[in-house]
Amino acid sequence: MTNIITTPIFYANGAPHLGHAYSGYLADVFKRFHSLTSDNPCCLITGTDEHGQKILEAAECSQVGIQQFVDDKAQAFKALWPELAVQVDVFVRTSEEQHLKLIQTIWHKLLEKGDVYLGYYQGLYCLGCEQYYTAYELEDNCCPIHKTPVENKSEETYLFRLDAYRQQLIEHYLNSSDFITPNYYCQVILDYLNQGPLEDLSVSRVNIPWGIKVPNHQEHTIYVWIDALFSYITAIQKAGFDLGVLEQTTHIIGKDILKFHAIYWPALLLAADLPLPKKLIVHGWWTINGQKIAKSNPKTLITPKDLVDKLTCDGLRYALFRQKHVARDGNIVINELIESINADLANNFANLVKRNHTIVLKYFAGNIDAKVISQRALADESKLTIQYCEQAINEIFNYYKQFDFHNASLLLKDTLDHCNRFFHQRAPWEISKGKDNISVQETCLVISNLLRLVATAAYPLVPTLARQVLQELGEDIATCQWQSVCDIKSITINKALSHFKRLEKEH
Ligand code: ME8
Ligand code: MG
Repeated sequence: MTNIITTPIFYANGAPHLGHAYSGYLADVFKRFHSLTSDNPCCLITGTDEHGQKILEAAECSQVGIQQFVDDKAQAFKALWPELAVQVDVFVRTSEEQHLKLIQTIWHKLLEKGDVYLGYYQGLYCLGCEQYYTAYELEDNCCPIHKTPVENKSEETYLFRLDAYRQQLIEHYLNSSDFITPNYYCQVILDYLNQGPLEDLSVSRVNIPWGIKVPNHQEHTIYVWIDALFSYITAIQKAGFDLGVLEQTTHIIGKDILKFHAIYWPALLLAADLPLPKKLIVHGWWTINGQKIAKSNPKTLITPKDLVDKLTCDGLRYALFRQKHVARDGNIVINELIESINADLANNFANLVKRNHTIVLKYFAGNIDAKVISQRALADESKLTIQYCEQAINEIFNYYKQFDFHNASLLLKDTLDHCNRFFHQRAPWEISKGKDNISVQETCLVISNLLRLVATAAYPLVPTLARQVLQELGEDIATCQWQSVCDIKSITINKALSHFKRLEKEH
């Protein structure tokens, strides 16, 4: 069955920034890993969340009409993904006609079931989050995320009987304690659910001219979060899949929107008689000078494209995963990113490829027959290096599977360290000084075959570099499968190019 992977459906109220890019990278790395390890397709969904007061206010400040405003923002997000080599399959917009129809259908269903009813709500609203808070969740009377004052609102509203699904949610979390990665969040959610009855959720707002109207009650606009969450389903429908694929759906989200995805979304799906998703992957925040990168804080805005220009497409995504664990927060320091790119990609990886391939071309006309080693036993250091790499590649596989791309990158680097040490110890370049020809062939054969494994394992993180290295080894990434066992095959190399230039540090 098809696997679905989603990023959040980002607000169309500003230009994409590095935080959005990171969610997209997570989805793309997994998709590419999936393509190496499974025959089933993996469909990557992203899009823009275009309704609500927050978007309307942003449009009003910008002097262009609201439709033009969201069209421009949606276009900016659409254009972002190819720049980052993130392979999007479906781009959904909450302003699409198809989505409107879906929301109306869902609304009718929840209303008929009695899960949604007309009532009254009084609470403290944060516009930045498009969410009500309770007094005890606030910090100094301000939103804990945006640090801005909340608004006391009391209005007629439709309410969703959230508590009707509390018990089912508790059971869900008890039965699937790995529903959220990192899984300590499951306990956080369980603790929350176990505190006692959940307040009904306000699911409509009055006097919001921009959004999907409540059917037959035009003064009310459907709460943007209901609108946005169900856009995952619109996207699934746009791709032509049956809604059963929800069970194979993994949502990638930042920790800021955990509650919406861990409580409201499953409750709404249960209410709509739809299957629950497979998994939530929660990632931490990137900061700049310690401040969270956010549209509302211009000092933190880095344009992903500028960083790609500076660090290369592979470099940026690799360095972000190399820098911090997915679930943690991390601070962006360009020179630190450059250091790891130079050390790991330029030196450890690309340079080893070039040195090895140059020797193979120069002394063996690009060909080494695997027979050279079947005629005599492999040297101990060859065996040990192969053994180490095979085991590492197996572990890297498990890291990818768990979306632990930080540890995948660390172990990849470690594997390349091992390969480099082996290469140095065996000093194949000493062939020019009369070193035993067969021993040099063994070194290059082992390294070439290990590089094939390593490049395949590196492909999700550094697709361009990995593709080029594999090409030089006569392999096509389109047909490559994950390999954890290093069969020593004969090699044919026809080029030895420099695939990664060192980057200059900033002053
Ligand atoms: O919340 N570091 O959209 P949004 C890492 N429309 N990731 C970050 C980040 C940062 N500093 N800042 C943002 C919304 N993100 C809703 C979602 S889903 C049905 C609706 C990423 O534009 C991260 O994934 O505010 C975060 O959860 C998301 O962008 C929020 O994007
Ligand atoms: Mg946000």
